Amino acid sequence: MAAHLYPATHARPAGLSTDLDFSTEQLSGVLELAGQVKQSRQRYASALKGSYIALLFEKPSLRTRMTFELAIKQLGGDCVTQIGPIADREPLKDVARNLARWVDAIVARTFTQETIEELGRWSGLPVVNALSDLYHPCQALADMLTLKEHFDKLRGLKLTYVGDGNNVAHSLLLCSARLGIHCSIATPPGYEPNAQITARAQELAKISGAQIQIGNDLDAALKGAHAVYTDVWTSMGQESEAAERHKLFTPFQVTMDLLAKARPDALFMHCLPAKRGLEVTDEVMESPQCVAFDQAENRLHAQKAVLLTLLQ
Ligand code: CP
Ligand code: NVA
Repeated sequence: MAAHLYPATHARPAGLSTDLDFSTEQLSGVLELAGQVKQSRQRYASALKGSYIALLFEKPSLRTRMTFELAIKQLGGDCVTQIGPIADREPLKDVARNLARWVDAIVARTFTQETIEELGRWSGLPVVNALSDLYHPCQALADMLTLKEHFDKLRGLKLTYVGDGNNVAHSLLLCSARLGIHCSIATPPGYEPNAQITARAQELAKISGAQIQIGNDLDAALKGAHAVYTDVWTSMGQESEAAERHKLFTPFQVTMDLLAKARPDALFMHCLPAKRGLEVTDEVMESPQCVAFDQAENRLHAQKAVLLTLLQ
């Protein structure tokens, strides 16, 4: 079993390299704090005064980069941003040890999960995963906050994810399993979530009482869903597979008809960017059921709570 699925938990988390770096209690605490931060921006305006954070982006970003930069500045800290390959000019361990001399934390969007973990190992700094090929923990936190706001609870909700069993699906699966949210994932055959992550989620679900359902049957997955979530069919770095994926994923497009198979009050969720006409129709994106922009807003508040938890 991969070590990152069993991280040690500490009184204060060492970072957020995977969704599991925060204990279940810390996860609930961060969502609570995110709600407070959202209510009262002024109260936290100096909370990170004197803190400097390096943002490293190996892949493009709108939401994650903007919301981290704004979160840090609105908390009274400051940041420096580098876009492009992290370790093409020198070994990653040297980059990490340089950063350790200058900043208090690293936020990194990478291809491999190993890059996130190596940055933490060699810098000794808190590292926040701003998306890797395996996880998108900051997204899942904002999504949990959005669900909590809309339903006034998390435990007992059913979250159905349709499409690619990717980084976003993995983070949603792990968070749901710990928070008592029943999580169904329907993908085309061969595109199910990572088997080790699924097994870990099943273990965690036994503790919380959540039911986890992974498969290829859309109708079964959508039945009784409080929220229907999708993401792009082709993630960053998989562009050469786009045509093949398009053929296989077409039945998984979220249309108004597909959404109608969930509860009548079901929310539609998307981490964005959305490719209208592929994984979701324009009609669904523009419908009152769509909360994608609430999710985007909550990235800011959830990430403020993460930074406060790690640095304050
Ligand atoms: N949802 C999300 O992470 O968006 P960006 O890729 O624009 O950061
Ligand atoms: N799964 C997508 C998420 C983008 C926010 C990707 O990795 O490209």
